[in-house]
Amino acid sequence: MKTIKIGLIGSGFVTHLHLNAFRQVVGIPVQVVAVASLDDDLDRFAKKFNIPHYYSDYRKVLQHDEIDMIDVCVPNVLHKRVCIDAAEAGKHIICEKPLTGYFGEDLEDKTVAVGETSKLEMYKKAVKNADEIMDAVQRNNVKLCYAEDFVYAPPVTKAKRLLEAAGGTILELRSEESHSGSHAAYSREWRLSGGGSLMRLGSHPLGLVIHLKNFEGKMKYGKPIKVKSLTAEVGNLTRVSAFQKEEKKWMVDRWKDVEDWAAVFLTFEDGTKGVVFSNDITLGGIVNTLAIYSSNAVIKVDMAANDAIKAYAPAHEIFGDEYISEKIETKAGWTFPSPDEDWMRGYPQEMQDFVEAVYYGRDPVSDGELGRQVVEVTYAAYLSAEEGRRIDLDELNKEIGRNR
Ligand SMILES: NC(=O)c1ccc[n+]([C@@H]2O[C@H](COP(=O)([O-])OP(=O)(O)OC[C@H]3O[C@@H](n4cnc5c(N)ncnc54)[C@H](O)[C@@H]3O)[C@@H](O)[C@H]2O)c1
Repeated sequence: MKTIKIGLIGSGFVTHLHLNAFRQVVGIPVQVVAVASLDDDLDRFAKKFNIPHYYSDYRKVLQHDEIDMIDVCVPNVLHKRVCIDAAEAGKHIICEKPLTGYFGEDLEDKTVAVGETSKLEMYKKAVKNADEIMDAVQRNNVKLCYAEDFVYAPPVTKAKRLLEAAGGTILELRSEESHSGSHAAYSREWRLSGGGSLMRLGSHPLGLVIHLKNFEGKMKYGKPIKVKSLTAEVGNLTRVSAFQKEEKKWMVDRWKDVEDWAAVFLTFEDGTKGVVFSNDITLGGIVNTLAIYSSNAVIKVDMAANDAIKAYAPAHEIFGDEYISEKIETKAGWTFPSPDEDWMRGYPQEMQDFVEAVYYGRDPVSDGELGRQVVEVTYAAYLSAEEGRRIDLDELNKEIGRNR
């Protein structure tokens, strides 16, 4: 049986989730044979995970003939370059979310706040970046697996089965990812992240609602139902003066040129609606939710909630280093420790699908096209928020001379 061989690019936070997920793939042997990253402790990382080859230059990983698939786990600003290089090297690709965006890469003055760029210019460049990735993938006949784990979360998989059984019309989808702020340095600056809470957190619920309407369309009519138009609002709530005056800050603030709050209202091609929230101002643990209002069913999904275990401790330090759940501020009081957060969020399931897609030569459930639609909708949402108007995607693409 052929072993699927993986080359990792990046050895940070999300790479650890992917490595854990690769180990759980069943039925097909998987081996991580090389890794590239700029981290000082890369040698220790490689040894710890039994990865025979490691480099600081990612192109060395692409030169390994035996590697089938490159797993792109680097900051957003690098996704495009690494994906295109991997495709040109004939490798299948897993790309972390978001597929790409606009990062001010064409601005000569590296000190300007990229977030202040006209959002119409951003839209043009972000979708061009996404289109260039997709073109390279097509040209080289490789697979692009878009690592949107929400699509694979077991409660979402079950919801899809219920939708299939019910056969109704999805009239409204509501989804959210919010928490009290990322501590990663790159998240504060548009230049590195390509946007704020909408880009970083909102790409998950956006990807999910777009996937579900695509899924419904394919199931019923043999083609996806896509987003037709949208309106959006973004804000910087940690900049309001009342918040600023408070001494103790319980959430991340001092965002540079990115928003910390966003809401997007989508209208799909069939006239149905989607509502997506994403913000960095939510205390009490991460919010990962989906509500489906269909013509003959209501389905509510909570990918963060868990009440299989409830634990009480009178003080934060009592549970020591033992993990409880993502983004809770304290372990004191009653908490809901998550038995397996990775499983609940769909990381092992997405890697199973991606490895099978390469092994059996079929398309993954979450593919580059979903990533591309998320980029399009995200930057159209920024444009809507800037100009205070509804954006029709076909009209916008016509206006900029893009063939969708
Ligand atoms: N799906 C999810 O739930 C999820 C969660 C977190 C992050 N992400 C995504 O994963 C990606 C990485 O995020 P992270 O939190 O792991 O970041 P991180 O900062 O923890 O890790 C980034 C890694 O990229 C490496 N790197 C940077 N520049 C490089 C270069 N030129 N060549 C080779 N390696 C380079 C760094 O050395 C580091 O190992 C981002 O796109 C992010 O959006 C997804």
